[in-house]
This record gives sequence, C-alpha cells and structure tokens, in this order.
Amino acid sequence: MKFFVDTAEIAAIAELNDLGMVDGVTTNPSLILKSGRDIIEVTREIAELVDGPVSAEVVALQADAMIAEGRKLAAIAPNIAVKLPLTWDGLKACKVLSGEGFMVNVTLCFSANQALLAAKAGATFISPFIGRLDDINLDGMDLIEDIRTIYDNYGFETQILAASIRSVNHVLDCARIGADVMTAPPEVIKKLASHPLTDKGLETFLKDWEKTGQKIL
Ligand code: G3P
Repeated sequence: MKFFVDTAEIAAIAELNDLGMVDGVTTNPSLILKSGRDIIEVTREIAELVDGPVSAEVVALQADAMIAEGRKLAAIAPNIAVKLPLTWDGLKACKVLSGEGFMVNVTLCFSANQALLAAKAGATFISPFIGRLDDINLDGMDLIEDIRTIYDNYGFETQILAASIRSVNHVLDCARIGADVMTAPPEVIKKLASHPLTDKGLETFLKDWEKTGQKIL
C-alpha cells in the first residue's frame, strides 16, 4: 500500500520523505488554509520535494472553470494530480483532464456508486473519506471494501486512495482490504511505529544493560 501524506506542511513532509515513507502528498483547501501559504507556491515546493503524485484541489464548481483551474494547477509540475470534487461537474472535468493526460484525484467520495462513476470518467485516484463516514455512525471501511470489490469485478484501474484516515487502525484495515493508497496526517503515520510493548521491552533491556556495566562505543 502506498503512503501519501495528507498535509501542506513542508517540514513534516520532508521528515517523512527522508525516511522513504512518502509515495505522494494530498492537499485540500482546508490544509492550504492551515499552512498559511499561497497554494501555487506551496504546491510547487511540495512537488519538487517528493517524487510521487501531489494532489492540488480546484475550488470552482462549474466544469469549465474546474478544467481551467485544473490546467493551471497541473502546470505547476509534472507530478501534480488535479483534485476534483465528486459532483456531476467534477466528473465532466475529470473526463476532460484525464483525457488530456493529467492525473486526476476525485475527492469527497462517500458511496460506491460515486466511485464507480469516477472510474468510468477516467479518474487516476478515487478518494473515499473514511473518518467522515465514521463521524456520522456509518462504517467507512465498508465503503473501501465495496469499492475494492467493484473495481476488481470489472478491472477498473482507478486507484483507491483511502482518505480521512484518523487512526492507526484505519491504516491497518485499509491494508487488509487492499486499498492501493492511504493518505494520512503525519502524526498518524508516525504513530504506526508505536507499541506499548516496544516501549516496555526497551525499558527492560536498557535497565539490564546498565547492570552489565558494559559500553558498545
Ligand atoms: O484527505 C482528506 C482529508 O484531508 C480529510 O480528512 O480528517 O478532515 O476528514 P478529515
């Protein structure tokens, strides 16, 4: 499963990228706001830093305007994926921009039927939002499973990019189901390394080591 980082914070991306943990980056208008940066400048910096796809989201609502914004965002760097909302106009823009050879990430997906439409419109990635479904007492992971089944049934090549990931269990479940990509905030990715038994075991080893009176260096 590929790891995308869901942030527009350069330092956080760089730290994970140095460890080889970054296969791509996703941003959205809320993350651009949080970064306090200009969308074009920060997207360019991120796209230079990482080799994989960097999603940059349009804000227009009509297909023609989405296409114009998408072309401008795609011109920032060759590894930009234009992020479009899953609306009828977004699907029209997806068809045009993917036909022009741009990577397209269709976002704000909350149903398997929406995911089916995105695949038929030529999306490179579909972004189902797990956490936001969980927020309203639905099961985000059921959606990932349904999309996996449907895409596999018909051989759609659109990659399932599990988004709105809030916990390490979301990551594990996505990997079990076979999501192609998951995008998570840097904190969640770093938490994957933590386990209380690792901490406890390390504490014991270090106490015992001290008793040996030895040094390695
Ligand atoms: O990738 C989409 C993500 O940013 C949404 O996450 O936690 O705001 O639902 P969240």
